[in-house]
Amino acid sequence: MTSLTSNPQTSISHRHNAVIEVQNLVYTYSHQEPVLKEISFSLNAGDRVALMGATGSGKSTLLENLIGLKHPQSGAIYINGTLVEPKTLPQIRKQVGFTFQDANDQLFMPTILEDVTFGPRNYGVSPAIAIDKALQLLADFGLEAYARRSAHELSGGQRRLAALATILALEPSILILDEPTAGLDPAWRRHLAQVLLKLPVQVILIASHDLHWLGRVTQRALVLSGGCIQIDSQIQPLLQDGKTLDQLGLPVDW
Ligand SMILES: Nc1ncnc2c1ncn2[C@@H]1O[C@H](COP(=O)(O)OP(=O)(O)O)[C@@H](O)[C@H]1O
Ligand SMILES: [Mg+2]
Repeated sequence: MTSLTSNPQTSISHRHNAVIEVQNLVYTYSHQEPVLKEISFSLNAGDRVALMGATGSGKSTLLENLIGLKHPQSGAIYINGTLVEPKTLPQIRKQVGFTFQDANDQLFMPTILEDVTFGPRNYGVSPAIAIDKALQLLADFGLEAYARRSAHELSGGQRRLAALATILALEPSILILDEPTAGLDPAWRRHLAQVLLKLPVQVILIASHDLHWLGRVTQRALVLSGGCIQIDSQIQPLLQDGKTLDQLGLPVDW
């Protein structure tokens, strides 16, 4: 009856073309109502996507499922055609760069420079090349003077930029960012937008409350509410639709 069964070819090729494919994902923290109920969407090469939704709507939970830090009760996630599961995680994490909502979760070495060189060194990049690249990234984020200091000596916004540098050092083809502008002033928000727009990545997915900034960096928006993707549309018309955003818990000017 359905188009899926009458034309199975469509759904199969669709899955294999998508960079990120999420099918009927359900995620429940123990003894609670599901935070994510039947989430399905696909992101294709070239997509720059905003993940919007009120505080507590499940944005971070969804992102952590995508990179295999959390395991869904049911449903499936494919990254470039590979099912995300414990045995594929090393392969998945070579492709996907992820920054946590809390940058402290990403910075654990004695110095920022060691944090940024850690990933490349693990993949066998020589110390000299890794350090060169790290210093370049840190300079780009205004952190060259902090390279040999500990993350504790950085402001929240600086820590966020340092965490992003640790990810960019690995040159991921997919970038997933959780609240990247938190703690950044307007000048740094602008700079971060410019950096992200220049990156040669397949897909960027960004969870944020910073609606106007998202409007400059992404083209498409997914809105989470009530455990479901309520909206999947172009971001610009959505940003003009204050009433709909308000109903989804996202008042535009607040
Ligand atoms: N470790 C946890 N244990 C139990 N509930 C959690 C945990 N982490 C988050 N939650 C709950 O899941 C919901 C979604 O949280 P989260 O994904 O962090 O939302 P968002 O990132 O959109 O603010 C919230 O109701 C939150 O309280
Ligand atoms: Mg969050």
